[in-house]
Amino acid sequence: MNTDNSLLGAVVGSPISHSLSPAIYRAAFASQSLAGAYKALEADASNIADVLSQLRQRGVRGLSVTMPLKEAIIPFLDVIDEDARLLNAVNCVDFNNGVATGHNTDGDGCCDALEQQGGALLSGAHAVVLGAGGTARSVALALGRRGARVAIINRTIEKAEELVRTLAPAAQEAGGDIVIGSLDEISRAGVLVNTTSVGMNSDELPLPANILRRNIVVLDAVYSPMETALLKAAKRAGDQTVDGLWMLIQQARRQCVHQFGWNPDAEPMREAAERELAARHK
Ligand code: ATR
Repeated sequence: MNTDNSLLGAVVGSPISHSLSPAIYRAAFASQSLAGAYKALEADASNIADVLSQLRQRGVRGLSVTMPLKEAIIPFLDVIDEDARLLNAVNCVDFNNGVATGHNTDGDGCCDALEQQGGALLSGAHAVVLGAGGTARSVALALGRRGARVAIINRTIEKAEELVRTLAPAAQEAGGDIVIGSLDEISRAGVLVNTTSVGMNSDELPLPANILRRNIVVLDAVYSPMETALLKAAKRAGDQTVDGLWMLIQQARRQCVHQFGWNPDAEPMREAAERELAARHK
């Protein structure tokens, strides 16, 4: 049974003070009429083992994991699910039956946002992903698992090649694929996802605006600003746009399913995140 002071969830990382997870999770708990605390805890590789064991002693039910711990937490968990293992990155831990199990919900959160907020059909879609870092890896795998053909474009070609080498077989098993791409493919794409940091707190574009065509569903994982230069350009080109806050909300919704076994409504979580961002910008 939950009491007001029982610990339901926590987020760990560093720096953690900017995390939107407390606002998002508290809204999810409120929507389920759940009492209990959600904590943001500063932790890095040097103290994650201690923090994790304290959280387990307190009976925490769900843990979100952010920078710089997504890989570093892995040795301290009991089970890593298949996709988190392929990605070598965990952003979600559940403690069901006392077993700490790591998952990665970033890619599925992106796909849910593309489908639910963007109206994209991903099975058989031609998708272009900009970037080949941790976010790109989870997004490419999830798109490939939903049957999309994913073209990766990255500044550093070796990282794109490594992404394709390690993740394409899993996508192919699901009827999708992951390949190296080029900018001219955007004219044939139904989906475009920016996972690079280009456009974060700047008006830079991660690609030349004139190559955007009509009728692409464009998601920018960057959500500061909420409407990035890429999303503005995509709107001008007649595309459907989805901001990065929706990806964040959808991956948190998926975390709740793993951690607590219920599927919260995304809307109150989104509203709480927007209120928190607005309060910070006052
Ligand atoms: P995340 O975990 O958010 O994915 P990351 O793993 O550091 O972060 O990856 C950042 C991505 O943004 C990489 O694909 C990076 O390209 P490189 O692999 O060439 O470094 C990309 N990126 C960052 N700054 C960039 C820039 N100015 N121009 C193009 N790509 C950039």
